[in-house]
Amino acid sequence: MDSTRRIIVMNAKGGCGKTTVATNLASAYAARGLSAALFDHDPQGSSIRWLRRRDPERAPIHGIAAYDRAQANVTRSWQLRVPPEVRRLVIDTPAGIKGSELVEHVRGVDIILVPVLPSPIDIQATADFIRDLLLVGKVRTPGTRLGIVANRVRENTLAFRALERFLETLRIPVLVRLRETQNYVHAAEQGVGIHELKSYSTGRDVADWQGFIDRLEEESAPARPAVHPGER
Ligand SMILES: Nc1ncnc2c1ncn2[C@@H]1O[C@H](COP(=O)(O)OP(=O)(O)OP(=O)(O)O)[C@@H](O)[C@H]1O
Ligand SMILES: [Mg+2]
Repeated sequence: MDSTRRIIVMNAKGGCGKTTVATNLASAYAARGLSAALFDHDPQGSSIRWLRRRDPERAPIHGIAAYDRAQANVTRSWQLRVPPEVRRLVIDTPAGIKGSELVEHVRGVDIILVPVLPSPIDIQATADFIRDLLLVGKVRTPGTRLGIVANRVRENTLAFRALERFLETLRIPVLVRLRETQNYVHAAEQGVGIHELKSYSTGRDVADWQGFIDRLEEESAPARPAVHPGER
């Protein structure tokens, strides 16, 4: 049986935290001893550049630059090959995905994570994207699950309350609320996940990620019945 779980991070809206979530997920899985790969569909190549900055002494992550269609002397299927030992495949995607491209990307994935920021523009764009996912992407098919990552959260703000109201109307599980902190910016610069950052101020973020990964492991476990939008 194929025991590789595929986790895709998507939102047509730019800058909502797709790469931040994808890189932190891959490093968190690697830290748990689960062989991890990071698949980058974004021509900006941010996840792959993050991986290149990563110290080779750290828990290894296999990188696949899926956006690079100009690689000489290798077939496309060789380029996209996932090593057999990989157990968690994390897929980063570009902004602006829609239509047939969206359908293509969600095929065969176990869980779709949608990061969303607390701002009116992001909330509207995310509502449109989720509608697209459900209608065009036909995400209701059994076996594919959907989860929200509320990102750059600042509690006790009007924007955060508006986001929470929006998330309630969606009736899709919110798997984690990540706070806004420069720790994410520093981790991105150093090719590490938040748990690998040498800082005294990451305690709460590391705890958020531990809870997130635990929840994700449950949500994406193959034996569990699919969660459809509309169910809790
Ligand atoms: N929780 C957070 N707190 C502070 N900064 C954050 C947080 N999440 C992301 N950022 C920063 O916001 C910027 C955009 O994040 P990121 O690159 O992950 O978004 P993206 O959705 O991948 O963007 P794109 O659509 O361009 O691919 C980055 O500089 C990142 O470091
Ligand atoms: Mg990105």
